[in-house]
Amino acid sequence: MTASKKLTSHSFLIRPIDKDDLLELTTLDRLSRGSPWTKEMFQKELELPFSIHATVKDEKELIAFGVVWQVKEIAQLIQITVIPDRRGAGIGTFLVKHLMRVCSQKGCKIMELEFEQGNIAAKKLYEKCGFKTVGLRKKFYGNQNAILMQCAL
Ligand SMILES: CC(C)(COP(=O)(O)OP(=O)(O)OC[C@H]1O[C@@H](n2cnc3c(N)ncnc32)[C@H](O)[C@@H]1OP(=O)(O)O)[C@@H](O)C(=O)NCCC(=O)NCCS
Repeated sequence: MTASKKLTSHSFLIRPIDKDDLLELTTLDRLSRGSPWTKEMFQKELELPFSIHATVKDEKELIAFGVVWQVKEIAQLIQITVIPDRRGAGIGTFLVKHLMRVCSQKGCKIMELEFEQGNIAAKKLYEKCGFKTVGLRKKFYGNQNAILMQCAL
């Protein structure tokens, strides 16, 4: 990736998920992941008092979203997804760092997460944001192991 393709934060609008985003979010998630969330699942997420979430938009479309659950001083990163044709441009890093800042402001001391061991993009993203591997859950996703990571906020 060339430096010129890297993100500048002024190019994007980042804000919590709104009920008006639900249709666009389900489309993005269907394009992005094998087990996408439905509109109802996103709707339910908005109603959870411990859910901290964000979308990233450019002037045209919604390009990424992230969801964290706050459990007292622990922030659990539940999901982060960038639309496929916008990956590798720093948007995932921008979003994770934003969620880390918001969670810290809300009193969280640590962020933790898990992902499939074979997910190289996720591993690189989280390492870049300062996360360290703290464990492994064997066969957590069917036959796939889960890597557990943590980062102090
Ligand atoms: C994981 C994901 C969110 C990364 O988003 P992204 O916007 O591409 O991430 P960034 O551009 O900020 O990249 C962060 C680092 O990871 C690296 N990276 C990203 N995708 C990569 C890939 N496919 N292979 C290797 N490295 C990759 C980048 O090069 C960058 O490191 P660098 O700056 O040192 O070059 C995105 O691939 C995605 O939405 N995947 C599907 C959903 C998912 O797996 N979510 C994570 C588990 S919950």
